[in-house]
Amino acid sequence: MGLLESVLHAAPVMPVVVIEDAKHAVALARALVAGGLPAIEVTLRTRAALDAVRAIAAEVEGAIVGVGTVRKPQDLADAMQAGARFAISPGSTPSLIAAAKDSPLPWLPGAATATEAMTLAEHGFEYQKFFPAEAAGGAAALRSLHGPLPDIRFCATGGIGTHNARDYLDTPNVACVGGSWLTPSRLVATEEWGAIEALARAATLLRA
Ligand code: 3PG
Repeated sequence: MGLLESVLHAAPVMPVVVIEDAKHAVALARALVAGGLPAIEVTLRTRAALDAVRAIAAEVEGAIVGVGTVRKPQDLADAMQAGARFAISPGSTPSLIAAAKDSPLPWLPGAATATEAMTLAEHGFEYQKFFPAEAAGGAAALRSLHGPLPDIRFCATGGIGTHNARDYLDTPNVACVGGSWLTPSRLVATEEWGAIEALARAATLLRA
């Protein structure tokens, strides 16, 4: 099993995390790992993101930390340097595709259409992020893509929560789903790690 494949199969759900303050990173990641979700995507949407990745990579046993919202080649280099084990993008660009092919860091590029998925597969990326999942047609769209593109596997994210995750996870080309519902900003700000661990534990039960 390739590294990306094992990351995507580590649990049914990958938490998509926005960390405003790096001081929360270690406790937050420990709560997710304790709840059964070891693969964590830390989005590059805040200034604290890379420091958070660094802290999780160094201090949280059992965590497999990656960087999300990768939009340019430099983000891939920064992610590697911070100790990320994988990188995720909401889409793909020619420069990112070229950089990812040159980088040892496993990369999950984003696709929302058959053309995007086919283009990425041509470049050798058979694991992709289906984003924005709900807005792009949801689990029904993924089932439609499975017919002509049975070799491509997706991590679906965007608009997914406990109300619809099962529908995605029942779809044959879905390796996992991702979402921000595991780490609501209110619980992070108030450091309610037990509540986050409980959300993670509930998420592990989503796959039948
Ligand atoms: C992502 O980057 O994957 C999405 O922003 C997560 O989407 P969600 O907030 O709807 O879960």
